[in-house]
Amino acid sequence: MAHLLTLMTGPQPEPAMWLPTAASSQAADVDGLFHFILYLCTFFFVLIMALMVYFVVKYRRKSATQKTSAVSGSHKLEIAWSVIPTLLLVVIFFWGFKGWMNLNVPPEDALEIRVLGKKWSWEFDYPYNGVSGAGELVVPVNQPVKLIMSSQDVIHSFYVPAFRIKRDVVPNRYSVLWFNPTKKGTFDVFCTEYCGTSHSQMLSRVKVVSRDDFKKWAETGGGMDGLSPVELGKKLFSSKGCVACHSITDDRMAKPGPALGKRFGKMEEMSTGEMVKVDENYVRESIRNSTAKIVKGYAPVMPPFPASSVSDRQLNALIDYIKSLK
Ligand code: CUA
Repeated sequence: MAHLLTLMTGPQPEPAMWLPTAASSQAADVDGLFHFILYLCTFFFVLIMALMVYFVVKYRRKSATQKTSAVSGSHKLEIAWSVIPTLLLVVIFFWGFKGWMNLNVPPEDALEIRVLGKKWSWEFDYPYNGVSGAGELVVPVNQPVKLIMSSQDVIHSFYVPAFRIKRDVVPNRYSVLWFNPTKKGTFDVFCTEYCGTSHSQMLSRVKVVSRDDFKKWAETGGGMDGLSPVELGKKLFSSKGCVACHSITDDRMAKPGPALGKRFGKMEEMSTGEMVKVDENYVRESIRNSTAKIVKGYAPVMPPFPASSVSDRQLNALIDYIKSLK
């Protein structure tokens, strides 16, 4: 199973015992504090439970006539159990505050990448070489990366467990997150804010590659150049998030949107009762103006994809890909 997962996702560094792989410079700080709190709590839990059991046995009532002895307070004990936890909390506060400040202040030389969250996919725009709308975040290793994030619709949350970073992605404003990847590999991106039907499918990946591989990737338009229309369509189908709602089989119940397998060229009944042929113009309209015609039995939940989001070349590639789903 682990082998199969590696084949599917590329090489993935081994995770630690409690936590996912630590693959960013911030992870050590976060993990250190997490372990400190975890072992501190474990120590006091065991200590308090053991003492409680011991006292229950030692001071149990031994006969029906035994009287409870008089108990007077102990200032020494009270000061000890007030001062020691206070000092421990102060340590936790300053440790956490230092890490929080570090997570919130990106370095000056960070590579800036824009992140767009939408129902239900992530899109990444790079500031150079015209790489835009990438479905995966590709970054060079040991290079601080600053993410400038916004949402097209509702609140999402960008989360990379391996980097120990997470922040809400909100419409009409930017939120910022940064990381410095220290390990090459492929790491999961999750949405951690419930955002509707396909929230759990709102997945992506961060690919941390060498500086040379990153340069090559950026020079070929994010790996999109030189692909055949069907190959490009297949890539876009997952990077634009279509895959979250549309099955590529003909199983109508597999996903919340209409299944696309074996549909091209067939007649389809709309919610109005009208019969429409699934041809180039119908697919084009369904992408550009997604709520113009709704297939019977489905909700009008798909966002529109104007030319600024899916270019004409990309639109043609998507149509060719849907055609190929025989
Ligand atoms: Cu986006 Cu959950």
